[in-house]
Amino acid sequence: MEKTVAVLQGDGIGKEVTKSAVKVLQAVGRRFDHSFQVKKGMIGGEAIDNAGDPLPKETVELCEKSDAILLGAVGGPRWDQNPSHLRPEKGLLAIRKHFGLFANLRPVKAVPGMVDASPLKEHLVEQVDMMIVRELTGGLYFGEPKRKSANGAVDTLTYSRAEIERIVEKAFELARVRKGKVTSVDKANVLESSKLWREIVEEKKEYYPDIELEHILVDAAAMKMITQPSSFDVVVTENLFGDILSDEASVITGSLGMLPSASIRSDGFGLYEPVHGSAPDISGMNIANPAAAILSVAMMLKYSFNMSTEAAAVEQAVYSVYKDGYCTTDVQKVGHRVLSTTAFTD
Ligand code: NAI
Ligand code: MG
Repeated sequence: MEKTVAVLQGDGIGKEVTKSAVKVLQAVGRRFDHSFQVKKGMIGGEAIDNAGDPLPKETVELCEKSDAILLGAVGGPRWDQNPSHLRPEKGLLAIRKHFGLFANLRPVKAVPGMVDASPLKEHLVEQVDMMIVRELTGGLYFGEPKRKSANGAVDTLTYSRAEIERIVEKAFELARVRKGKVTSVDKANVLESSKLWREIVEEKKEYYPDIELEHILVDAAAMKMITQPSSFDVVVTENLFGDILSDEASVITGSLGMLPSASIRSDGFGLYEPVHGSAPDISGMNIANPAAAILSVAMMLKYSFNMSTEAAAVEQAVYSVYKDGYCTTDVQKVGHRVLSTTAFTD
């Protein structure tokens, strides 16, 4: 197959880990006889410096002509004092919104042999394999009115029926090809938007009689994420709840440097990026962990290109590097040999 991938390296270690990810993508192309055209575009701080815009028009056009987007990370102290329209993360929010990438998928999975890298007890982590599905383009982050004055401030949590339906459907579909369970997280005892959310989840459930469904309030979910993380399969929730819970879940398996993510829409188009940021403290040192970026490529292969075998091969390759006793500095693993970004990638 022939695919075009827009690669937006971004800032800091974003540049280093996307190089690794592209190298792996090209290796998949050779091994499985695909042709991946990689086209580079600017986003974030680099784009502000060179084009005066965190998401230049050329980048949007490039992405529109591509089959998927691979992103590094944006930001750094250099741009921290910029006015809000010239902030690197503005580029990220804008690109998600522009392409209607409403479903943010964050898998959290115990890496075989690496469970002792977790801050939790090993027996809690061993069986963890969950997929957090966060609604990404609605809810509290986008609702109007939204304003602040010296005397008060308002944010609004709004959802249309259609917005809830499509994210809930996505969760049920994912559960069907995973472990067959959906946990819907809301605050239905207090919030009207959550009451509608819960109603719609129940309606959708009728079409998925094979799927086990559980409703849980967000505060209880936060506890259960730590006390019984392996009880979750697919977790679906509102934008803000998902932001918080996915960061909480991300520490279960150990390092931030190992976590990939996807932001997709219904037709399969998506943006793939590591969960971590641009890590200015280690940027340019060739020590960043490229695993999250490489595993993001695996997600791209699976969700945008329907290449499940190829995706599994990439995942297995990353796991085998750990199994063979190698890691990067961020992963505290006794007895493992620490490699540079480039050596780990090779
Ligand atoms: P961060 O994720 O960049 O770094 C947090 C800590 O984890 C640092 O000590 C860093 O060295 C380490 N770390 C992160 N990724 C690593 C990897 N692959 N290998 C080894 N160590 C790794 O988050 P932080 O420091 O809060 O933010 C730094 C910059 O990144 C800020 O400008 C922030 O706005 C931006 N950021 C961008 C994101 C994105 O583009 N999606 C997400 C989060 C932060
Ligand atoms: Mg967050």
